[in-house]
Amino acid sequence: MTNTSGPAALEPPAATEAPAIETPTQQHWRPRVHFTARDSWLNDPNGLLHHEGVYHLFFQNNPSGSTWGNMSWGHATSQDLTTWQEQPVAIACTPQEHVYSGSAVADVRNTAGFAGPGQCALVAIYTSAYTEHSHRPGVQAQSLAYSLDAGRTWRRYAGNPVLDIGARDFRDPKVFWYGGDDGHWVMVVVEASEHRVAVYTSADLKEWTLTSRFGPAHATGGVWECPDLFPLPVRGTGQVRWVLLVSLNPGGIAGGSGTQYFVGHFDGTTFTPERLSSGAAAAAGEDLRDFDWLDHGRDYYAAVSFNDVPDGRRLTIGWAGNWDYAASTPTAPWRSAMSLVRELDLVRDAGGRHRIAQRPVLPTDGARPENLLVHRVQVPCGPGQRWQLVLATGEGDDDDRVSIVLDGDERTLSCDRTRSGAVDFHPAFPGVDSAPLLSEQVSEVLVVADGCVLEVYADGGLSTITQLVFPAAPLRRLHQGALD
Ligand code: FRU
Repeated sequence: MTNTSGPAALEPPAATEAPAIETPTQQHWRPRVHFTARDSWLNDPNGLLHHEGVYHLFFQNNPSGSTWGNMSWGHATSQDLTTWQEQPVAIACTPQEHVYSGSAVADVRNTAGFAGPGQCALVAIYTSAYTEHSHRPGVQAQSLAYSLDAGRTWRRYAGNPVLDIGARDFRDPKVFWYGGDDGHWVMVVVEASEHRVAVYTSADLKEWTLTSRFGPAHATGGVWECPDLFPLPVRGTGQVRWVLLVSLNPGGIAGGSGTQYFVGHFDGTTFTPERLSSGAAAAAGEDLRDFDWLDHGRDYYAAVSFNDVPDGRRLTIGWAGNWDYAASTPTAPWRSAMSLVRELDLVRDAGGRHRIAQRPVLPTDGARPENLLVHRVQVPCGPGQRWQLVLATGEGDDDDRVSIVLDGDERTLSCDRTRSGAVDFHPAFPGVDSAPLLSEQVSEVLVVADGCVLEVYADGGLSTITQLVFPAAPLRRLHQGALD
């Protein structure tokens, strides 16, 4: 089937379907640098891939609505990672199949045999979520679609699904090539309600063999979703560790959806986390050492990385949303945004622990769109010091605002959006998010406010908070200073 078959209406229209016209306030909520769909719903980033100078961002999309449903792969492209062009829907749902999250690879060795002479197939590996109109209602299995025109049009593989264990909660395959010419494909995929990541390998993307499993571990208060596994350099050491990302919903650190990670080793078949060497924790089976949350805000979920980025850079995008209230955010006709693209590496502390540091990819100064606030502030924050930045829409006491506080005694970064504008569309929305600061002395904070998305980076990107905000007018810097 090609992408010419339009999406079928799988879901009844939601009673609260948003109006089709944006009000002026809704217009200023639309970010400039964070990707949004033109006039429809999105959630997870899918199929992140760099190919022939183009970055591809596919995404969970309802092509015909502003709420979740009709799940299909939308598509956007970029050359600079900060300006995105939306493309036609890449893989549309059918009455029998929702097209859930997954990944994309360039099959440069033509292992799957989809390409003709001189061609390179791009292959999407996605979850078929079979509907009640299918022969396997409720089952989730892994399927392929491929493109022979550099991602413009997509065709489902006739032999789908390629990995079906008859499970109802088996999804979000991330596939990458491991090794050189004699290497193989690796898939990490979640057994969501078992809180496990399963590792499969394949020579041709069509036949898959289970080689290992990881989990349950760390946070298990909800289903595990959207795994990713990749190597990262350890800064200043010449060494590499592997990072396993696992999203969790609910049970995230800030409530609702959140993204956690584990650091360890990978040998092509098995992920082995860094463990504490000895002691009571090890005896109790609680001996994981290197794990954390990727972001401590309420709105950073389903983060995964691009395949095939030049120079070995590891770039991620997350969904700036939370399943607790994603259906209620006050924008129309588009709803939900992606995070900024972030570049990752690992930092090793004095105790030998590894933590991910994140740096956003931002437009160059000359190319910065209007109303994108990028504010890099030098802060003296160590023991006995507290510092605050208030971002507000104006000078008045009643103006909408977000308060960002660094507390050198508590060693926290916090972000308070209780007075940030429209907050009462859902009881779980207003609140204060807080992230630990790993370093005793923090000297810089980076704040990016872009429409309805606020991203805050502190401690060299070791602490980040991502929050949605819906102020009456764009936020700008109003006040910064030491607190008593
Ligand atoms: C995560 C998720 C995935 C699933 C997709 C469906 O947000 O629940 O597990 O594939 O969204 O849209």
